Amino acid sequence: MKQSVATSPETVRVWDFLVRVFHWALVTFFVTAYFTGDELDAVHEFAGYAVLGLVGFRLVWGLVGTRYARFTSFWFRPREVVDYLKSLASRHPRHYLGHNPAGAWMIFALLASLLLTAATGILTEEANHGWEDLHEFFANLTLLLVLGHVAGVLVSSVLHRENLVRAMLTGRKRASLD
Ligand code: HEM
Ligand code: HEM
Repeated sequence: MKQSVATSPETVRVWDFLVRVFHWALVTFFVTAYFTGDELDAVHEFAGYAVLGLVGFRLVWGLVGTRYARFTSFWFRPREVVDYLKSLASRHPRHYLGHNPAGAWMIFALLASLLLTAATGILTEEANHGWEDLHEFFANLTLLLVLGHVAGVLVSSVLHRENLVRAMLTGRKRASLD
């Protein structure tokens, strides 16, 4: 008997367990670090180093991790980002199983900005407070990127009629590419 896919669309595992734990731990520690920056206390330092450790893990996992976690699986040329953004305006936005090209670029920007925030935080603490302005600048730049990232997630979720936040919790996405 032919199975109906209309009632139960097939899903595939896209985000492995470590990527999901990494993501939600990163959200927790970034938010904690951001809101404890008024003065250096143990919580700020711990959360900041946790962010650094998580980003470090992700850089390694991007090289040796599972299929959709690898950087080579979401390495897109600028042209592909433009084409994807254009396709959003059409009635049939392109659907990607892993990260879409715009989301992928945002991820690299987030990882870079998080690294610079943590690095300048350590310099502020170790060297002198001359680094503090730059540290604050990168912390705020990261926050702006996060807002763009969340907006992108919500817009793509609506346009693709797919709950991407749930996918980052369960790891599963719709198998069809349309
Ligand atoms: C502190 C803020 C956040 C940071 C630094 C952050 C960072 C990231 C990173 C680095 C990835 C790539 C995952 C990977 O492949 O390892 C990602 C993906 C993702 N994030 Fe966030 N994120 C943040 C907040 C959020 C929030 C609040 C949501 C929910 C609304 C969210 C939803 C998602 C989703 C759905 C994906 C997968 C995107 C896709 O389907 O391509 N993120 N995020
Ligand atoms: C990556 C995550 C981090 C975020 C989002 C973050 C965010 C912030 C913010 C928003 C401030 C406030 C700046 C101001 O208002 O003057 C701050 C201050 C500071 N941060 Fe971080 N930070 C992070 C990591 C770190 C790390 C790893 C360290 C070093 C251990 C660090 C050390 C400091 C110091 C020394 C200050 C100045 C505190 C003071 O006013 O005396 N930060 N951070």
